[in-house]
Amino acid sequence: MRKSQIPVATLSNDSASTKRQLSFVTPKDLDRAWGLGLFYLKTPDDLDFEFARQFGRELIATGSPYRQLPQYGELEGFIALDNNQQIKLALRRERWGQHYPADIATFGRQLDAIGIAIIREVFRQSGIPEALWDRASGGYASGGGDAFLNFVHYDTRTPDWGLRPHTDYGFVTILDASAPGLQIEVGGDFEDVPVLPSHLIINFGEALNFITAHSNRAVNAVTHRVVSQQSTDPVRHSIVYFANPNLDGMLWQFDDAGKEQGSSKVQDLFAHLENSLTETR
Ligand SMILES: [Fe+2]
Repeated sequence: MRKSQIPVATLSNDSASTKRQLSFVTPKDLDRAWGLGLFYLKTPDDLDFEFARQFGRELIATGSPYRQLPQYGELEGFIALDNNQQIKLALRRERWGQHYPADIATFGRQLDAIGIAIIREVFRQSGIPEALWDRASGGYASGGGDAFLNFVHYDTRTPDWGLRPHTDYGFVTILDASAPGLQIEVGGDFEDVPVLPSHLIINFGEALNFITAHSNRAVNAVTHRVVSQQSTDPVRHSIVYFANPNLDGMLWQFDDAGKEQGSSKVQDLFAHLENSLTETR
C-alpha cells in the first residue's frame, strides 16, 4: 500500500481536550479512515516524543531498574510475551505517577487528550447525542476509562512473529513506531503501513466498533500485525497508548436519536474476542 492511500488528520491546538478538533483534508479522507480503521495523525507540536523515545530505548538495558518493576496481573509490568517478539513495559493510567518519571506521566496525559479528541470526533460523526457519549464510552470520552502507556521493544533473538494478527480490544490506539513492520488487513490482504515521519498511527478497536455499530457512522476495528523483525533490521521500538473501557464497566450502543440499541459488559465483549484472537494488545 502506498502511504498516500492512508488518510492523514491533524489536531487543532487547544489545550482543552474537549475543544481540540480532529480534521481531515476532505470528507472522503475521513470516510476512508473510518472504513480502514486507521489513519495518520500529524504529531501535535506540544508532544515531546524524543524524550519519550529515549526513555523507551533505555528500558531495554539489562541494568534498567524498570526490569524489576512488579507485575500487576497479566497486562502490567515488564513483560516478555511468549508468542511474539514483544518485550514491553506496560502500565495503566493509575500507575503512571507511581512508576514513570514525571515527564512520562505528563506525556501519557497528553496522549489521553489526543485519545479523547479522537473519540469525540468519532461520536460527533456517529450522530449519537453528546449527552450520551460519556455513558456509551464507559467514561473515556470525558477523561475516565482505562488507558495504558506501553513502551515496546522487539527482541529479534526470538524467531517468531513480531506481533500476530489481531484487532485491538479498546477504543483507540495511538502508536509511535521507530521502524517499519506494521501491516493492516485490507480486503483480505495484508498491506504495509509505512512509518511516516512526524506522524502517529491511530487505529480503532473493537469497543469503538461496538458502540458505533447502530449509529450513523460505525468505525472499523482494523486487523493488524507486525511482521517478524530480523536482527539485520533497524531495531524496532514503539510507544503505544491504548484508550480502553474499564474492564468492570458496561458499553452501550445508541442510535442517532439517542435510543438504546444494545449493551454489553466489557468483560463479556473481551471474552468473546479472546476466543477468536490470539493477542490483546
Ligand atoms: Fe494491536
